[in-house]
Amino acid sequence: MTTLITNIGELTTNVGSDGDLCGTVKDAAVLIEDGRIAWVGAAADAPSADDVVDAGGGAMIPGFVDSHSHLVFGGDRAAEFEARMAGQKYAAGGIRSTVAATRAASDDELRARLRGFLDEMLAQGTTTVEIKSGYGLSVVDEERLVRLAAEVTPEVTFLGAHVVPAEYADRPDEYIDLVTGPMLDACAPHSRWIDVFCETGAFTVPQSRRVLEAGIARGLAPRVHASQLGPGEGVQLAVELGAASIDHGTYLTDDDIAALAASDTVLTLLPGVEFSTRQPYPDARRLIDAGVTVALACDTNPGSSFTSSMPFCIAIAVRDMGMTPAEAVWAATAGGARALRRDDVGVIAPGARADLALLDAPTRIHLAYRPGVPLVRAVWKDGVAVV
Ligand code: NIG
Ligand code: FE
Repeated sequence: MTTLITNIGELTTNVGSDGDLCGTVKDAAVLIEDGRIAWVGAAADAPSADDVVDAGGGAMIPGFVDSHSHLVFGGDRAAEFEARMAGQKYAAGGIRSTVAATRAASDDELRARLRGFLDEMLAQGTTTVEIKSGYGLSVVDEERLVRLAAEVTPEVTFLGAHVVPAEYADRPDEYIDLVTGPMLDACAPHSRWIDVFCETGAFTVPQSRRVLEAGIARGLAPRVHASQLGPGEGVQLAVELGAASIDHGTYLTDDDIAALAASDTVLTLLPGVEFSTRQPYPDARRLIDAGVTVALACDTNPGSSFTSSMPFCIAIAVRDMGMTPAEAVWAATAGGARALRRDDVGVIAPGARADLALLDAPTRIHLAYRPGVPLVRAVWKDGVAVV
């Protein structure tokens, strides 16, 4: 069974050439076979197919690769957001209130919520999602969160070291013993990644190192939350350990930027966080010009960023972080794929997964040019029309 999507006004393949980062093909067509891309080219040269879909001249991009989210949790923190908008500062301690609500929720409640978020994301063009634990913070509850996440994505991250839970408040190193011992034993079988929140108010660099090294020893690959609330040494640690990504990077030093530029570690910027915490947006222009590979992700969570919209993040990145529309779309697709060390998503090329988003717009530029407008008209995941 083959499907040809034709009459695509502007196709973003992300197979770059001649200074065109997005590998743009005008008046294009894409052939899908068995869930994968089988052919890409000019519509005029397209092969025949069992089924033909007319894209109506719209722009098509790879489905968004959202490489950072926390989707398994109970409750919300609207009141905390409201207080912040009245002048209160964001602090990592708010995580604990979501931990209490998450522990109180049943598997089915968490599962229903999680699936609701995924539907919401799919409707906005996101076809690959990484999901972290981190609101359980006990062996039983962290195991529940990674298990539920693994039902819906292969990109599961064990984040038992999100914050020290209240019951370990005065003995954080014992909590690290738990995370790197029984909790890791319970969670590693469901996870691909190990993460830690390396930040003042969360975990120190030596504690973070213990967590990451224990995860690596169990076959998990590292990624790190760092430099969100202030500068620190988390970026250097991440680069030293060969992390796939450091996430946040709101406060980077010149040394951090040089280390990232010289490494394979992607910097995942999360504009929804600065939006929702009123912190300054990072200067993505400076980072890209320095040679850092930048991804964009939503960081959907009830505390610091409760958006699930990649188009919203793209619009901020372009308007307030100095990225061009092409760079922002690349960062939200191919960049996310790099941050997850994947080459089968984030591109539209023969052999890649047929994960596609068709826009109700003539060009991807509209994603930033028309902020807040629902422009995603159709979505294919593994070649199946899902929206
Ligand atoms: O990525 N930085 C740490 N973790 C989340 C925030 C979690 C929360 O406030 O509930 C983040 O921003
Ligand atoms: Fe996060």
